[in-house]
Amino acid sequence: MKILVLGSGGREHALVWKLSHSPEVDKIFCIPGNAGISSLAHCVEIKDTERILNFVKENKIDITLVGPEAPLVNGIVDKFEKENLKIFGPNKEAAMIEGSKVFAKLFMEKHGIPTANFRVFESPNAAEKYFLSTDFPIVIKADGLAAGKGAFVVKNRDEAFEVIDKVMRQKLFGDSGDRIIVERFLKGREVSALAFCDGKSIVPMVSSMDYKKAYDSDLGPNTGGMGAIAPAPHYTKDIASITIRNIFLNVIEGLQREGISYKGVLYAGLMITENGPKVLEFNCRFGDPETQVILPLLKTDLSHVVQAVIEGELAHCPVEWFDSVSLCVVAVSQGYPLKYRKGFKILGLNEIDDDVMIFHAGTKRTDQGIVTNGGRVLSVCATDSHFSKARARVYRSLKKIRFEGMRYRKDIGANLSDSSSEFHRSVEVTP
Ligand SMILES: Nc1ncnc2c1ncn2[C@@H]1O[C@H](COP(=O)(O)OP(=O)(O)O)[C@@H](O)[C@H]1O
Ligand SMILES: [Mg+2]
Repeated sequence: MKILVLGSGGREHALVWKLSHSPEVDKIFCIPGNAGISSLAHCVEIKDTERILNFVKENKIDITLVGPEAPLVNGIVDKFEKENLKIFGPNKEAAMIEGSKVFAKLFMEKHGIPTANFRVFESPNAAEKYFLSTDFPIVIKADGLAAGKGAFVVKNRDEAFEVIDKVMRQKLFGDSGDRIIVERFLKGREVSALAFCDGKSIVPMVSSMDYKKAYDSDLGPNTGGMGAIAPAPHYTKDIASITIRNIFLNVIEGLQREGISYKGVLYAGLMITENGPKVLEFNCRFGDPETQVILPLLKTDLSHVVQAVIEGELAHCPVEWFDSVSLCVVAVSQGYPLKYRKGFKILGLNEIDDDVMIFHAGTKRTDQGIVTNGGRVLSVCATDSHFSKARARVYRSLKKIRFEGMRYRKDIGANLSDSSSEFHRSVEVTP
């Protein structure tokens, strides 16, 4: 079988790595990929969807897997399906669950899915008027895609006015800020709960948690993710079963009722509050860096799961997980998430032990060797029976890797308990 993966991050490297273990996968392509991916897959630089379609036909690629959200929200799946080409991911309508936070919130309200109370505003004046009478803190979110930068926790009225100015007047995120959500601030601990969906059934993945803040002790600005662990110890069996029933099954059923079939990965960003799990947002794809900790725990051949999702056969595809824990730390360029420079040579990659995985993100192969090519450069990951052991191996390996301005958080997975009592099973939804 020939598989194409779209994307260039650590998530895509982890996907390609996992697929490369499948006896049924003969060849992997990646568009555009990165230096790490290029040692496992044939990487090609193609931007335009029509040309990607032609590439798939010319190379007789059996299945295409989409990593990032933007192509899904822009309808790449619909274009492939129109040409009878197999692709893993939700179609344009279904991807709205991530593409529009207004759609997602109204959908949750309509189908009784637990989430923070909210208001939608289409004009900056109306939002500002609302801030005169509301309590703080609140969370303001741009409606459309904003590369993970469109949500603001604001502590007072002045901050709220500033955000409205940036998002709705100066259009920091373009059209994505035409409408905004203002929602109640929820207290609790976050979990990333992902599931495979084939339109009828869901199979929960092992839970995970990412570390969003740039600096240790969760200080500094938000980033794309500085590290992750799986499973999340605070995602207990009870919380997992509430999440599956009240969130995942409700979403799939609700979408079915609206005539939308959801296929691919559904990612629920959750806040575990004292009143149970509540949805912060949905993503319509694998998370990054969550995928780098989830896939090493997947025992089953990923190509089997991917095919089962596409064929609508997930209920008949046993999905098994290793009973271990997994941890990953992201090394970033100096200055990230703000301004940073690229092109620094990465040293020490050959000195890493075999029981540690390096998933590349912003890296590029040049005549001088592998150089940095982004803010998040690479992630170092390990699985073990205990977080403390995985953590020790990851941090030992990080000491061997060097590039100018390299920085990483020192507290990923610190002080975690090793309980992992959750369960994973296929759940059928009767239409
Ligand atoms: N209602 C909320 N209460 C508390 N924190 C929130 C709330 N909504 C979002 N956040 C915080 O902001 C982060 C980003 O919000 P999210 O809805 O996931 O948007 P995005 O990932 O698109 O930026 C969350 O991971 C969480 O830390
Ligand atoms: Mg998020």
